[in-house]
Amino acid sequence: MSWIAVAIWGFIGLAGLLFVIKVLYGISIALVLPVTQGALYVSTARSRVAALLEAVTPEPGQLLVDLGCGDGRVLRHASRRYRVHAKGYELNPLAYLKARLLSVGYADVAIRRENFWKVDLSSANIVCCYLYPDVMARLAGKLRTELKPGATVVSCNFPLPGFHPDSVLRPEGRRTNDPVYIYRIRTPDMKKARDRHPAGTAPHGRQLVL
Ligand SMILES: C[S@@+](CC[C@H](N)C(=O)[O-])C[C@H]1O[C@@H](n2cnc3c(N)ncnc32)[C@H](O)[C@@H]1O
Repeated sequence: MSWIAVAIWGFIGLAGLLFVIKVLYGISIALVLPVTQGALYVSTARSRVAALLEAVTPEPGQLLVDLGCGDGRVLRHASRRYRVHAKGYELNPLAYLKARLLSVGYADVAIRRENFWKVDLSSANIVCCYLYPDVMARLAGKLRTELKPGATVVSCNFPLPGFHPDSVLRPEGRRTNDPVYIYRIRTPDMKKARDRHPAGTAPHGRQLVL
């Protein structure tokens, strides 16, 4: 076979493989669409993951939960860099499989193929999510009911309706610098204390929106 034929067959093989991956991706999304709604499997850029975790600075031993963990990149970074217990829930079969494979060897990372709406979040210290506007109001209600005071919520791209962010970051990704909202769950007393302080600028260039 000439090199031209090899190149043509190589190209056809690669295009076929990419097509199969696209089809599997589409099927995996369609299978879980009734539950996930608009929150499709799209990953947060690694540089944004690093920046948002740096802003929160989890403490060793804390429990960090990612609601809809995709390929588990937030969990692995948090476990590696901050030595937290990291737990993710993911329904998309392709994302779940990828997350499990990539997390082999991470003793403190647990990934469950479960619907996070059915999970009690009261033991979480930090909750991360990158979900879409059509579920954010429902999520705000769940977090308000279940999280304990002092817990932190990090929401990529979309705000939690009815919550007031402590800070809003704009970490650079490959294509976007969409906002990341950071919230602290407070008791009424903690809210009063916060309201006594004027707005300012936090260290590391974080914008405080008190
Ligand atoms: C935009 S992706 C974010 C992935 C990951 N958190 C990240 O930032 O890279 C949202 C993920 O949430 C998952 N998801 C949406 N609703 C879910 C639910 N109720 N239970 C479990 N996973 C869910 C989707 O399958 C999707 O993979």
